Amino acid sequence: MYNNKIINVFNKENVSSPPIWFLRQAGRHIPEYFSIRSQSKNFIDFCLNTDLIVQSTKLPLKYYNIDAAIVFSDILMIPWAMKRNVQFVKGVGPVMDPMIPNETEILNDIDIKNLLRPLDKALKILRSSIPNHVSLIGFAGAPWTLACYMIEGQSTKDFLLTRKAVWSSNNWFNKLIDSLIDYVVDILEMQANAGADVLMIFDSWAHMIPSFFWKDFGISPTKKIINNLRKRNILIPIIGFPFKAGSSLINYSYESGVDCLALDWTVDLNWAIKNINPNIVIQGNLDPASLIDNNNNLDKSVKLILDTMNNKRHIFNVGHGLTPECKIENIKKVIEIVKNYNN
Ligand code: CP3
Repeated sequence: MYNNKIINVFNKENVSSPPIWFLRQAGRHIPEYFSIRSQSKNFIDFCLNTDLIVQSTKLPLKYYNIDAAIVFSDILMIPWAMKRNVQFVKGVGPVMDPMIPNETEILNDIDIKNLLRPLDKALKILRSSIPNHVSLIGFAGAPWTLACYMIEGQSTKDFLLTRKAVWSSNNWFNKLIDSLIDYVVDILEMQANAGADVLMIFDSWAHMIPSFFWKDFGISPTKKIINNLRKRNILIPIIGFPFKAGSSLINYSYESGVDCLALDWTVDLNWAIKNINPNIVIQGNLDPASLIDNNNNLDKSVKLILDTMNNKRHIFNVGHGLTPECKIENIKKVIEIVKNYNN
């Protein structure tokens, strides 16, 4: 494992200013992204092309003085490997064959590591070619969020089919979650062994979980994933991101086993300091929408985050992915403010 600023924070070592990186930093807000993407016939092929993964992961490092590179891939590569016919449709987003209740035979016997070998190769190349002071982050979707896409077949307003499946007494939903846990463990293990310094678990639809089932589907799958990784001797830090989970963030921070909690942009950091497990690192949580237009409050809002988290273990980030409209110059300004803090 490399010694760098993010790892220092996890190791409780002092850092002058917090490390900084951005969710979706390798995406469409950088014009060059489109020329890399145009070299493959579709988004899935892009995510299966080692050379293009390496290029796009490194792309933000050309523009920004940041402390991490997140490997270019997508959480939906697991449903793709499970033969759900995943496609990314312009203007719609991801679509796939919706799962039919009780259709669990599709879940078995998928050699996920083999199917995602280009990702494994890319991480190995990346770790030996990016600077030592930059952390390499591997990731996966949380089982709940993957199940949401697999059951609905696309993003929907309130994920009613998935919530119906949870309340029904059939056990196929549990079987689906259990299979997803296994696949997530496999690909996180693969990424750690290929050179990732940190792992992140994205639960983008955590706010759809009925509170009655929060422990079962918001906490327990992540806890099992982390326990299994530790049993396989994967000991690197793990960041959890239960998006907009509100009051449920409290027990998630104590019970899931994550080393760091990533916060969405709605969370008041003073509330977090009072309520979140003080033994874990906090990541976040600037609103990515603040990086779109000219913003007279940018300086103030970044400094407020820095002042509030001063002397706490903190990784500066946005509270959700950068959007295509985010401006490079605004992002550069944020980095400058963060890097100059306390110096
Ligand atoms: O830079 C990075 O952060 C690394 C790469 C990354 C992507 N997706 C690339 C991508 C990561 C970490 C993800 C995670 C991901 N993918 C999540 C969790 C984070 C979140 O946003 O909540 C989710 C829910 C997905 C599923 C997904 N993939 C959606 C809903 C979309 C469509 C988004 C849109 O606005 O069109 C994608 C496509 C996708 N994944 C793009 C990128 C750069 C855009 C693809 C393109 O058109 O070029």
